[in-house]
Amino acid sequence: MEKIIIGSDHGGFKLKEKIKGYLKELGYDNEDMGPFNDESSDYPDYAKKVAKKVASEKGKGILICGTGMGMCMAANKVNGIRAALAYDEYTAKMSREHNNSNILCLGERSLKEEMAMKIVKIWLKTPFSKEERHHKRVDKIMDLE
Ligand code: RB5
Repeated sequence: MEKIIIGSDHGGFKLKEKIKGYLKELGYDNEDMGPFNDESSDYPDYAKKVAKKVASEKGKGILICGTGMGMCMAANKVNGIRAALAYDEYTAKMSREHNNSNILCLGERSLKEEMAMKIVKIWLKTPFSKEERHHKRVDKIMDLE
């Protein structure tokens, strides 16, 4: 069973808990890097935990904060990470197909729950393109590290 590494801050805590349930429904395991309550916390702390683990395990992760923005900025500082802030099914799909994103960032306060779940599903189900041009471009992103 594929495992998804997941984390949030207080602004994304409720959606994190719901997404964990949805991942199970879809047949994915999850590893929750916290937080484990909705007390105020700092999103870079959880972005770092999830991003380091995704990079070292060459896996996939989901990060949620109020807007998804801070999580995305912080996660992309970690080598090996291509974090995508998706706001609809199209951006989620393209972030996998063209950019081979390995972390999905979501905003609990900026997305309706139903849309967040649609985004999660399409992001998980979309493979990276086999087209050479997309591989060349992603390699160029990684060369910036
Ligand atoms: C917390 O209030 C909020 O700033 C955080 O969840 C996130 O939206 C930051 O990008």
